[in-house]
Amino acid sequence: MRNICVIGAGYVGMVTGACFADLGNRVTIVEIDAGKLARLRQGELPLYEPGLSEMVARNQQQGRLLFTDSYEVALQEAGYAFICVGTPATENGEPELRYIQKAAESIAVHMKQPLLVINKSTVPVGTGDWVADIIRANLPQPLEFAVVSCPEFLREGAAIADFLHPDRIVLGATDHEAAEAVAQLFFPMRAPLMITDLRTAEMIKYASNAFLAARVSFINEIASICERVGADIQEVAQGMGYDPRINPHFLQAGLGFGGSCFPKDILALATVARQQDLQPKMLDAILSVNQRRPQQLLGHLREMLGQLRGATIGILGLSFKENTDDIRESPSLALASLLVAAGADARGYDPVAGELAQAALPALQLAKDAYALAEHADALIVGTAWNEFKHLDFTRIHASMRRPILLDGRNIYEPTKMRARGFEYRGVGRS
Ligand code: UDX
Repeated sequence: MRNICVIGAGYVGMVTGACFADLGNRVTIVEIDAGKLARLRQGELPLYEPGLSEMVARNQQQGRLLFTDSYEVALQEAGYAFICVGTPATENGEPELRYIQKAAESIAVHMKQPLLVINKSTVPVGTGDWVADIIRANLPQPLEFAVVSCPEFLREGAAIADFLHPDRIVLGATDHEAAEAVAQLFFPMRAPLMITDLRTAEMIKYASNAFLAARVSFINEIASICERVGADIQEVAQGMGYDPRINPHFLQAGLGFGGSCFPKDILALATVARQQDLQPKMLDAILSVNQRRPQQLLGHLREMLGQLRGATIGILGLSFKENTDDIRESPSLALASLLVAAGADARGYDPVAGELAQAALPALQLAKDAYALAEHADALIVGTAWNEFKHLDFTRIHASMRRPILLDGRNIYEPTKMRARGFEYRGVGRS
């Protein structure tokens, strides 16, 4: 059992804290937002992630997972402090590092014994060194510490499995021994371990996210070409994926990528490249291809429907992807805004993200389920590939729609089957 302090009860902090506690460690999560802290102490989570609330409750009951707003309490016996605070994009595309700075200052002021400070927030290359400088400058007494970068590769919706069964653990540090000591924490995962210098670890995170997003934009661009030349993107992707140099993952064409990581991280990397007098043409293209996706889907809908103004359009799924309530940079919500702007009557349904989506876009009406959404609708659009949309009662849906237009923005249905059921069906990148 080790004593671990986790700073920030956001997505990464909650999953990191709960999983380390579940592995038998004693974890204290620092959350300075009073409302959030009170809810957490009552077992109420600030986010939806499959399996997380059960894991948090189990470890709270067994006294291995605590929440506090006090750095002093959290660092009292801690040998490790994980920085998991947000780094949202600022207006010029650079990540906001204020929260990291505050965390580093607070760690320095309150640490009582030698400490390994591990950064999990996605930060520009060089931030690890900067964090070390801040701690050094704010330490009231000389104490040993080391900063280690440990980029997280968690996917929302699959974060617990990703944490416990990672593809690799990357640790970056100036002090190799410090990285080895942090590696001990990850020993139960038995994952390939890579120890690098601080800056390389920070860059591995950005490059990985940019590469994954590049695959999505690439396949979406190929999908647009498929539509024009009469090829089928699902089969094209499958045929490409058999080549082990390509592999079948992250080749799902659709409405594009969203979420808290890809858009922000690619923008940040491109901004850094520009600051270094480089022209990040590939990174710019990843973003611009992606930004066009909702507009392109709207173009399809216009072709199918003729007129958007006054039409009732139902959107299935509002979160940025399935199995999460996260609506940050959600392509589905971007499409909903375009519909509202075009004068359509936009409705939405999402298994968990409905209220958050409506708060972000008040003109969006919420339906209680997929069937209510379909009633008197002129078209349905699949915006997020939730499993529950895959096996609906399509006879009932077809019968209740004003016009049976089905625009499948995530290619979750078989075109022939849907057409056989009487739908005017269109997928993405399928003739
Ligand atoms: C991502 C990275 O996968 C993870 O390693 C990193 O730590 C954080 O960012 P996440 O944002 O949770 O995770 O979602 P992910 O599953 O990677 O999907 C990102 C976006 O790409 C989603 O909007 C998803 O719908 C879209 N996507 C993904 C596609 O459109 N097609 C695909 O083939 C894969």
